[in-house]
Amino acid sequence: METRPLGDSGLTVTPLGLGLAALGRPAYITLGHAEDLARRYDVAAMERHAHAVLDAAWSAGVRYFDAARSYGRAEDFLGSWLRARGIAPNACTVGSKWGYIYTGGWRVDAEVHEVKDHTLLTLRRQFAESWERLDGYLDLYQIHSATEDSGVLDRAEVLDELARLKAGGHVRAIGLTLSGPDSARTLERASAIERDGQPLFDTVQATWNLLEPSLGPLLAHVRALGMGVLVKEALANGRLTPRSTAPDFAANRAVLEREAARLGCTIDQLALAAVLEQPWADCVLSGAATVEQLRSNVGALQVRLDAAARAALATLAEPPARYWATRAALRWQ
Ligand SMILES: NC(=O)c1ccc[n+]([C@@H]2O[C@H](COP(=O)([O-])OP(=O)(O)OC[C@H]3O[C@@H](n4cnc5c(N)ncnc54)[C@H](OP(=O)(O)O)[C@@H]3O)[C@@H](O)[C@H]2O)c1
Repeated sequence: METRPLGDSGLTVTPLGLGLAALGRPAYITLGHAEDLARRYDVAAMERHAHAVLDAAWSAGVRYFDAARSYGRAEDFLGSWLRARGIAPNACTVGSKWGYIYTGGWRVDAEVHEVKDHTLLTLRRQFAESWERLDGYLDLYQIHSATEDSGVLDRAEVLDELARLKAGGHVRAIGLTLSGPDSARTLERASAIERDGQPLFDTVQATWNLLEPSLGPLLAHVRALGMGVLVKEALANGRLTPRSTAPDFAANRAVLEREAARLGCTIDQLALAAVLEQPWADCVLSGAATVEQLRSNVGALQVRLDAAARAALATLAEPPARYWATRAALRWQ
């Protein structure tokens, strides 16, 4: 897989990266998470499972890995894998996030799986925790889900601390991730924030997929200004995969199946190929939860859309408010 710059951040990425949201904890919001893990939730089994998916990603050439403090033990599993395989820190790029506290207690039926906290105290504590687990590997530190209501962009002390982490050489780049229908407003504000005469945020991680492509023009704009762009939820948390069997999705599913059959690929490959071809997308995250899914996702790099496919797939876009309401209702499982 080729490597390429992540905007002007100074970091490099591969077109496909691997996110560990589904690999670090028993519960997640994707459709078939329990089956992916074969309902085996003991820590050692989950670590072996995560390492197997990381091995498959590495063999396929993936060189960007994305974790977060709130993904259970994702940072621990990623750190133990990097060290066990003897991977040199400069052989890949590692990003993590702070701002959600994991409260799932390693349970699928937890009442609350994560709690947002964008205060300076939590940034300091979580950065120390991330640093300990990813010692020597952590390149990019991101605000996890910088929504308008979290108020994080109004906290000068938090922004100053992020700037200090970069200036002090603790991480090489600072980013933010977005979520929800207010993402455009947050990104516009974030891209104007400066410290020491330079933009504070080197990268943005945002949702863009066939159901919710509304942020595309703004992502193209910030990319042109030099921000690195990582795409998450490219498969709409599994809704754009063969697992998506909800009756109210049947018409969309028929479009996806028809175009996938015509181009000789699977649904997930088709949906990922639509993201990979966006010129502003530096790195598209695979959220593969199994080795098989990872291998299938990697196959998207060989898929080329044509005009007929683009026209058919454009009909899948939903009003953002509806997309985010459905997203918010996804069950942890
Ligand atoms: N706010 C944030 O910062 C934020 C939020 C979300 C995600 N992220 C990052 O983005 C990454 C990817 O996001 P995501 O995992 O939510 O979304 P995604 O990539 O849209 O969906 C991944 C899910 O799709 C399903 N899938 C993938 N390939 C498949 C295949 N071939 N066949 C059947 N099912 C398949 C699997 O779910 P099932 O098998 O369970 O159905 C898998 O867990 C995360 O790991 C994380 O690093 C960041």
